[in-house]
Amino acid sequence: MSLAVAPAPTLRIGPLTLDAPVVLAPMAGITNTAFRRLCREYGAGLYVSEMITSRALVERNATTMRLITHHESEVPRSIQLYGVDPATVEAAVRLLVEEDRADHIDLNFGCPVPKVTRKGGGAALPWKRDLFRDIVTRAARAGGAIPVTVKMRKGIDDDHLTYLEAGRIAEDAGIAAVALHARTASQFYSGTADWAAITALKEAVTSIPVLGNGDIWSADDAVRMMAETGCDGVVVGRGCLGRPWLFGDLARALGRDGSAAGEPVDATLAFVARAFRRHAELLVEFFDDEGRGCRDIRKHVAWYFKGYPVGGDTRARLATVSTLAEIDALLETLDLDAPYPGAAAEGQRGRAGTPKRPALPDGWLDSRDIGAEASSRLAEAELDHSGG
Ligand SMILES: Cc1cc2nc3c(=O)[nH]c(=O)nc-3n(C[C@H](O)[C@H](O)[C@H](O)COP(=O)(O)O)c2cc1C
Repeated sequence: MSLAVAPAPTLRIGPLTLDAPVVLAPMAGITNTAFRRLCREYGAGLYVSEMITSRALVERNATTMRLITHHESEVPRSIQLYGVDPATVEAAVRLLVEEDRADHIDLNFGCPVPKVTRKGGGAALPWKRDLFRDIVTRAARAGGAIPVTVKMRKGIDDDHLTYLEAGRIAEDAGIAAVALHARTASQFYSGTADWAAITALKEAVTSIPVLGNGDIWSADDAVRMMAETGCDGVVVGRGCLGRPWLFGDLARALGRDGSAAGEPVDATLAFVARAFRRHAELLVEFFDDEGRGCRDIRKHVAWYFKGYPVGGDTRARLATVSTLAEIDALLETLDLDAPYPGAAAEGQRGRAGTPKRPALPDGWLDSRDIGAEASSRLAEAELDHSGG
């Protein structure tokens, strides 16, 4: 007999009760306080920072300290940490807790980029069970009342899957929830996410929430993922690039009151232009520098205006703006009455890429445990900068 799965009205992560089972995925270079505030203005749930390296935090690197600063409207405050050295990760968690700088801490075990996996970090790390267990155990303990969660991939490749075992280790270690990006590291962002793996993780990890991640492009996708996999919440990354209002659609669809009702927002070009302008203004505030904020909004132009009738010349000029006044002048030239273009604005956006063999430390796959000596060598190779 199969039971229908109703969307959960809320999501509990340790002591936190979220008003929707929805999480903004950490995205380096994207989910700074400006973007998090913008998404939150439309929606509900939890909004995670871009990845912060534990070592840079412990060393109080100036950029890192700025990246972990939240706006007063950001409640609960959520920070994602990356690290390969248990002692450094523990020290980073302790710093956040003792200085009251976060209400939730996520640990990154999903990053597939070569500069991270080559050091044994991100998606490569759970392969070394002893190291993974040590990091999550010490982080959860140092977190105390602040919930610490794990975000991971299925494994390194189809022959080296780690997620079921890592999920159980995390659960035993006192981790408050696990999120699965249902791809292997070698897939990078190619193909489609294997939602069946989320179902399998939900069956393996029974005492803490299991969150599903991968290929949610609309609120309908989120409802479908929850129904098909039985996961307790969704983590949304690329789908909200240039569409921060997706969090409004998600909150309505997954329902603060548990009802799967609600219509998607009517994203006319005027609506999109207002969101784009607000994003630019928040970036200027975040960088405390109009030039830098405007340079940063340039990478979002293609995402915001995907499928809308905006000419090539205007797109090119939006992608070179230096001031808010320039943005205003360009937005005024748009056909603001243009309706939502439907399918042309939907679907995949952001990274895709092709599968490739992940870069790993020498001999990484030879055994499942790392041992103390190799672990200390890894610590020396830890990344020392954030948000990359
Ligand atoms: C530009 C970009 C930056 C990312 N940075 C991070 C990061 O800092 N930490 C992390 O755990 N995942 C990072 N990810 C992965 C996302 O959090 C997410 O797991 C992935 O995009 C799959 O979800 P999606 O299909 O909803 O995009 C990043 C993804 C993108 C596209």
